[in-house]
Amino acid sequence: MTAPVIAVDGPSGTGKGTLCSYLAQWLDWHLLDSGALYRIVAYAAQTQGIDPDNEAALGEVARNLDVEFIPSEPGRDVGVLLAGRDITQSIRNEDCGRAASIVAALPQVRAGLLDRQQSFRRPPGLIADGRDMGTVVFPDAELKIFLTASPDERAKRRYKQLKDKGIGVNLRQLLADITERDARDTERDISPLRPAGDAIVFDTTDVNIDTMVEKMIRTVRDKFPNITRDR
Ligand code: C5P
Repeated sequence: MTAPVIAVDGPSGTGKGTLCSYLAQWLDWHLLDSGALYRIVAYAAQTQGIDPDNEAALGEVARNLDVEFIPSEPGRDVGVLLAGRDITQSIRNEDCGRAASIVAALPQVRAGLLDRQQSFRRPPGLIADGRDMGTVVFPDAELKIFLTASPDERAKRRYKQLKDKGIGVNLRQLLADITERDARDTERDISPLRPAGDAIVFDTTDVNIDTMVEKMIRTVRDKFPNITRDR
């Protein structure tokens, strides 16, 4: 018996990361932040001076990442140690997000990260957060959720998130970055960002995070009626 997976996909700024970390804590399941892996590859490649066009070398970086994740409180970024060095904050800025979406379009990078992502599937279960969790990495996931929100709303949320972390950004620039990253993620040939045919799609544009948590919990309870946790 393999462990159950809840795949949660969608672009950034939909509340996906926050909702996944709450769900993982509520269920006491493992959490995969797959976006962090692409960010780490981009960061590691940059620090090693690897040319962004050198797909073979980037694939090698992806396959051999010496990375350790440290679970964090719900709503906080997962801790990341690269070769023992804490890079939790270094990978969270917009430049690293943009660099991540560039390396993420390379087939050898995606292939290099596949086994590692699948190895997160362990009992009692996994919440998998990403872009292709339900379509490619865990196509047999028991539950697939796809979150959307308007670009304006996502830019506002990212702005607040980054500001709260002390990272200075310009809202208009952020909207331009989000639009560019969405286009790259949805239009790439390999594992494009799109809902799986059997995903439940939620538009979070006008929904606050507490209501979204309730909605997600109701959806999980419908799918797994044996879950007896309080809320
Ligand atoms: O979610 P996050 O913003 O950390 O992801 C950074 C980038 O990594 C995304 O813009 C996307 O290009 C890439 N990514 C991906 N597949 C995933 C998760 C993230 O291509 N499963």
